[in-house]
Amino acid sequence: MIEDVLAARDEALIAIAAASQLELLGALDAHYLGKKGVFTTYKASLGALTTVDEKRAAGQALNDAGQAVSSALALRRAVIASAERVLRLGAERIDLTEAMARPARGHAHLVTQAWERLEDVFIGLGFQIAEGPEVETDFHNFEALNMPPSHPARSGFDTMFTDYAPDGTVLLRTHTSPVQIRVMQTIAPPIYMVMPGRVFRRDTPDATHMPVFHQIEGLVVDRNITMAHLAGTIDAFTRAFFGGDFTSRLRPNYFPFTEPSAEFDIQRPDGTWIELGGCGMVHPNVLRAVGLDPEEWSGFAFGFGIDRMARERHGIDDIRDMYSNDIRFIEQF
Ligand code: PHE
Repeated sequence: MIEDVLAARDEALIAIAAASQLELLGALDAHYLGKKGVFTTYKASLGALTTVDEKRAAGQALNDAGQAVSSALALRRAVIASAERVLRLGAERIDLTEAMARPARGHAHLVTQAWERLEDVFIGLGFQIAEGPEVETDFHNFEALNMPPSHPARSGFDTMFTDYAPDGTVLLRTHTSPVQIRVMQTIAPPIYMVMPGRVFRRDTPDATHMPVFHQIEGLVVDRNITMAHLAGTIDAFTRAFFGGDFTSRLRPNYFPFTEPSAEFDIQRPDGTWIELGGCGMVHPNVLRAVGLDPEEWSGFAFGFGIDRMARERHGIDDIRDMYSNDIRFIEQF
């Protein structure tokens, strides 16, 4: 019987090694180890053997053979399963060549970068952001800012008017200051806000001018606000935006909507000065135009060009280069 068992084992091992499908292994499993399998049948006939020693030796051989076959089955199953997995993965593979070949990702324009960085710095100083329309009324752009119809300062703004409304009443905003008016009309003080946006002037493009450019306006309205708060804010902003080795100064100037008014400059580490924008204490007439009592409320405002900041930061000679959208130029920033 032992020879028969060993012969059956060898036959089984050969068949298992040659099997290349899981179903076939299942059939071999049943054929040798199943309820009516070859080894089970041998086991049932052990009782027919005469001596105890014979029974023990045959039983041992039968156990060993059964184990050899079942571990060969397990090993072969694992090999076939992993081969099938490799095949399936190969079949499910997606061709991503086209996706990989997409053009390189771009990035925000350098004016947008400066705009976003300015917002970050002012948010860090405790300001909120507001925006307003680019097409404005004469009231918001001029009149409420203490420039009545015949005011000479109006002519300094090179205004572009639309023809949607009676002459001279609707225009492309010439600065972001009208957003101050809209903010004060909608929100009660205290107000701590900055207002970035696109502005328009009838200018011929040259190295330092564009008819469309960007400003950011700052407005604070609260009780007991003084020029010292203005100077301190400008200085804190200068250091936060340009770095701790920059300083700022105010120089007397005139704007109809602020009194007193100043121009503000920043000083580079090498000692040279750059003019950045205008500022001042909100004119009492401006507070009155939006229904605020100048005896109770006071405030300061400032405004400066975002394009100029970007130009300054990157040392760009000609502002027009920023808008020609030549990829070789703009991808540098
Ligand atoms: N609006 C002014 C300009 O465009 C700048 C400014 C803003 C000045 C706020 C004073 C206060 O020139």
